[in-house]
Amino acid sequence: MLAQWLRESTHTVVFTGAGMSTESGLPDFRSARTGLWNKVDPTRLASIDALERNREEFLTFYQKRLQSVQDYKPHAGHELLAKWEKMGLVQAIITQNVDGFHHQAGSENVIELHGTLRTVHCHKCGRSYPSRVFAEGNHTCECSGFLRPSVVLFGEMLPYGAVEQAEVETGKADLFIVLGSSLTVSPANFFPVEAKENGAKLVIVNMEETDYDDMADLVIHDRKIGEVLQEVDEELN
Ligand code: APR
Repeated sequence: MLAQWLRESTHTVVFTGAGMSTESGLPDFRSARTGLWNKVDPTRLASIDALERNREEFLTFYQKRLQSVQDYKPHAGHELLAKWEKMGLVQAIITQNVDGFHHQAGSENVIELHGTLRTVHCHKCGRSYPSRVFAEGNHTCECSGFLRPSVVLFGEMLPYGAVEQAEVETGKADLFIVLGSSLTVSPANFFPVEAKENGAKLVIVNMEETDYDDMADLVIHDRKIGEVLQEVDEELN
């Protein structure tokens, strides 16, 4: 069914969460046993408060996160999405992920709602540096401000340009496919709802249940995203 909908749709938007990258080796946040937030309290680490008042723990946490996105790479599922974009079957990817794997796999129209671990920027003057600078232990900008990963921390606004672009793509979508997100974080979880309200078909591929399953036209649980995408690709060829 999903292969047929992909063929028939004129504007397909794929919306990904951390479950898209677990098969690359990166843990997600809320999976029952392995999610990152089961071990640490995100507000203690991934927040503006942590940046300003708990800097040592903040630095340690983000050094590890930066290292992990260097150590791992996109998997076949990321590559299939890039292939489908080139075939004209996928028009945009809206991602909550900060690992940069969609870009690395070759997808071009990627909207990073929660920023990226690929760069760091000065918390005072905004100047941007490659994250390698931070990974090598340089945490101070030339203006003497503090360098921090260019990810959206809890308590921060989402990048305006990304939200605006995501709204445009969602408004045009006639097929909206969620891959690997618990859909628990707003305002990101607003987009599947808006797509559905605009009359798009909503598909949710997620190992565990989400609060939005009832509004979806197709729900696939208990299946790995990589396998599902592989099967759809075989049907498309
Ligand atoms: N195949 C299918 N589903 C999977 C797979 C997989 N291989 N691996 C994990 N999942 C599912 C999990 O069951 C889980 O419900 O992906 C979902 C990931 O949900 P979260 O860990 O909550 O990640 P996400 O929805 O992206 O979190 C949103 O929260 O902490 C913030 O900024 C962070 O962007 C993140 C946001």
